[in-house]
Amino acid sequence: MARTVYVNGEYLPESEGKISIFDRGFLFADGVYEVTAVLNGKLVDYNPHMERLERSLKELRIGWPCSKDELKAMHLEMVKRNGLKEGIIYMQITRGAADRTFNFPKDAKPTLIAFTQSMVLAENPNAVTGVKVVTIPDIRWARRDIKSVMLLAPVLGKQEAYERGANEGWMVENGFVTEGTSSNAYIVKDGKVITRELSNSILAGCTRRSLFRLAQEHGIVIEERAFTPEEAYAADEAFLTSASQFVMPIVEIDGKRIGGGQPGPVVRKLRELFLTEARR
Ligand code: PDD
Repeated sequence: MARTVYVNGEYLPESEGKISIFDRGFLFADGVYEVTAVLNGKLVDYNPHMERLERSLKELRIGWPCSKDELKAMHLEMVKRNGLKEGIIYMQITRGAADRTFNFPKDAKPTLIAFTQSMVLAENPNAVTGVKVVTIPDIRWARRDIKSVMLLAPVLGKQEAYERGANEGWMVENGFVTEGTSSNAYIVKDGKVITRELSNSILAGCTRRSLFRLAQEHGIVIEERAFTPEEAYAADEAFLTSASQFVMPIVEIDGKRIGGGQPGPVVRKLRELFLTEARR
């Protein structure tokens, strides 16, 4: 069944969803995006995603294409029109279409597009076995706190990870892991979760934010600091978080087995807590 996509106020069959070749998202990656999970037909962590979107737009000085209420209504309508029970909604806002100039064009109106993708999230078989990661150099720009559509470094990184037999690449800068190509990175040592503190070096994950709250409510300690690949090799457990993977156990890093090659108790608990809340 063809999906219904959203383009600048219109709901269209996916084959009719088109934008201008002059769109600055296309020409300059001059835009931002959000990926929101849908579970049991409900949006997961919607408000944090929209708070982050607001911040990304502000940092890039891109205007809102519609009101916040309209954006929420659009998300709900997309779930409904596509009969989406489980998967993601991708939405992107760019600075709009205009003749090509590097500086901001005066006449451009922001472009807003969205589409859905049906995916298995809760019963993802990877969560049972755990996934593999490899470390790769972090070659991204200095403002990774902005969820920009400029994703060439993550695209190359993820491809390298796949070609090396892994599901994700953990990017390393100055000897320390920053984050995954499309996820935040964590290790567990002696019952304590360790993950990098927020800064311009990483994206402030919405799943990370929920995880912090759930951990606190259930007495699981999180230490916010950078860790090295060597520390990760020696960890008891490792995992990643993102809107499309939730809390995903990692059982191998650079070919070294973590926690005996099985998802450990802390990550299993955190995934269960996250799913229980997301299903509500
Ligand atoms: N990526 N770090 C990076 C670099 C990311 O691209 C993502 C998400 C995250 C996790 O953020 P959140 O928990 O809010 O999804 C961290 C999305 C899923 C993507 O690009 O598909």
